[in-house]
Amino acid sequence: MAVDVRTVNLGYKNILTLEIYDSLDSTNTFGKQRIRAGCSHGTVVWALEQTAGRGRRDRTWVSNNTSLTFSILWRFPDYSKIPLLPLTVGLGIVQILHTITEDVRVKWPNDLWIGSKKLGGMLGESMMLNGDLWVILGIGINVNRHGEGLDFPHVSLQEAVGERFIRFGVLNLILEGADRGFSMLEEGVSDLNERFRQYGNFIDETIVVIEGEKRWEAVARAVLPDGRLLVESVDGLQSVLPDEVSVRFRH
Ligand code: BTN
Repeated sequence: MAVDVRTVNLGYKNILTLEIYDSLDSTNTFGKQRIRAGCSHGTVVWALEQTAGRGRRDRTWVSNNTSLTFSILWRFPDYSKIPLLPLTVGLGIVQILHTITEDVRVKWPNDLWIGSKKLGGMLGESMMLNGDLWVILGIGINVNRHGEGLDFPHVSLQEAVGERFIRFGVLNLILEGADRGFSMLEEGVSDLNERFRQYGNFIDETIVVIEGEKRWEAVARAVLPDGRLLVESVDGLQSVLPDEVSVRFRH
């Protein structure tokens, strides 16, 4: 439920307006309402507190008012490039977070990890309105939180670096990185695999691929130009799609 809203003009190329709400159920769900209500391309919806956050694969995203939870709303002309958008935005964000710590890495397709723990995740959704295609890219990052109530190992920036952060400062940095990620896609990204080798944490690592009820081990070999992950298992080489599988490190 939106209690109060403040609007800040940002001046990035494709991230222009920041709307700040005290409390929302899910910024992705609310973002869709803002699109229907006629908001402009490059609007960001930030909830200081999110009460019913959604993660990938119908999971719940647990956060509190020490985390960042926001969604970027983009009108996106090229349907064929949509699967790549969360990947390039993830790369843009990790690149810029290296100004805080170079330990942040992208775990394919677009999770942010430090070491063997999750720092943040993204939930990309899309909708059509009056013939326009819109992307809602929801991002959750643990900034100062100390963990409770999560079913996998996670870490916050504060835990990683040993200092508290002002959430708005981190948000502004992340939005600059996300804007770079959007431009990367617009301009054409010919070296996706090299970028994942540089900023990712899994190429040549053994992973567990989870595909519905099926789980199998493979070595991650490369990120293909269309965003699929090339993996090698006992059955040979095959590619997997971000929307169809999730991957875990083998521990
Ligand atoms: C994942 O790793 O499963 C994705 C998590 C995405 C969480 C963010 S928080 C802001 C936005 N609003 C939501 O309801 N979910 C995303």
